[in-house]
Amino acid sequence: MSEAERESVDFDRVIDRNEVRTLKFDGEMLESVFGQRDLWPSWVADMDFPASRFIQEALARRVEHGIYGYESDTPELPEAIAHWCRKRHGWSLNPDHLVFSHRTLNSIAVLIELFSEEGDGVIVQPPVFYDFRLLIRSARRKMVKNPLKLEQGRYEMDFDQLEEVAAEPDNRLLILCNPHNPIGRVWSPEDLNRLAEICAANDVFVIADEIHGDITYRTPYTPLASLSREAALNCASCISPVKSFNLAGVANSMIVLEDEEKRKRCKDWFSRFEVNKNNVFTTAAMLAAYTRGESWLDQVIDYLSGNIEALRQFLEQRIPAVRMIEPEGTFLVWLDFRELGLDARQLESFLADEAGMATNPGHWFGREGAGFARLNIACPRSVLLAALERLEQAVQRRSE
Ligand SMILES: Cc1ncc(COP(=O)(O)O)c(C=O)c1O
Repeated sequence: MSEAERESVDFDRVIDRNEVRTLKFDGEMLESVFGQRDLWPSWVADMDFPASRFIQEALARRVEHGIYGYESDTPELPEAIAHWCRKRHGWSLNPDHLVFSHRTLNSIAVLIELFSEEGDGVIVQPPVFYDFRLLIRSARRKMVKNPLKLEQGRYEMDFDQLEEVAAEPDNRLLILCNPHNPIGRVWSPEDLNRLAEICAANDVFVIADEIHGDITYRTPYTPLASLSREAALNCASCISPVKSFNLAGVANSMIVLEDEEKRKRCKDWFSRFEVNKNNVFTTAAMLAAYTRGESWLDQVIDYLSGNIEALRQFLEQRIPAVRMIEPEGTFLVWLDFRELGLDARQLESFLADEAGMATNPGHWFGREGAGFARLNIACPRSVLLAALERLEQAVQRRSE
């Protein structure tokens, strides 16, 4: 990385996100979801950090131009994405195999629509990101569970049960989450190979949600499609700069489809509904992210590792009843509250009413998540520690 590509970022700076209508901090939203406004918001999965200076500058330059009319496609963008995937993840993808979509959830919704029928089963691995359930339900498909197993503090896939559900002819799709929100596993090549083999053998097509792929600690992220040509042909990879560069309010997402016929169907869908037009700011931000965002990303990963360490130490020393499931990736940490002996509703109310935290209780991710909660640690360390102090006091009050 050249000197010109490096930047220095102050992740400790606390920025008032209430100056804009931030979903995570929105009082009305907090009230409707958690029953009150005055909470530390740790629920929505975005970061309280400013984006890379290079992205800010690219957006400012585009604003300054003053004309925001129709723009033709920017061929440098798919090239930059392919280059990024090769360099960061050793994944050689053909830029022509990218299909641009509005958002990752939009990608998944379209893939469910195109590659299954009403009433078909879609396999998910709970505890898992709750919006999958909403997408499956609203598409009138059936959610089929292949729950993860928690073994000695680590979640594993249950391949025996997967063999069974994959063999049922109505189960046409599986949504993989890699890295896995909310439990933070980065699936290994062995796990992914096994999953890919079972799915291919049973004609189950895999939607691989890899939106969190750029943020991992020590354990490298393996894109499912990078494993083999067979794996690539039987999956649609959903990738995006939204989480990696904190661009949820501006960026788009991509679907990578190696299978030519499926790619054509997908592209045709986006053209048919006219959702294939780019946004001038989106293009500017994404191009800057993928060409000049690496220094920022490396630093944010470092800072997040520091937050994980601070969280670990705080819990061990001051709230030993709450345990952390070691995250391998994502900026979301899965905490085990089972020792407090609360049922799902009681834990939800404990977190909001007693600890003052707007954080996602585990049962939102499926009943398999009951007794746990998901904490978003992408905030200045001082803010995280202040919230943990409130949590500590709430736990102490319970034991008095
Ligand atoms: C696994 C996963 N997929 C998809 C999304 C949503 O992505 P988008 O906003 O691009 O639809 C999130 C956001 O939290 C997520 O964690």
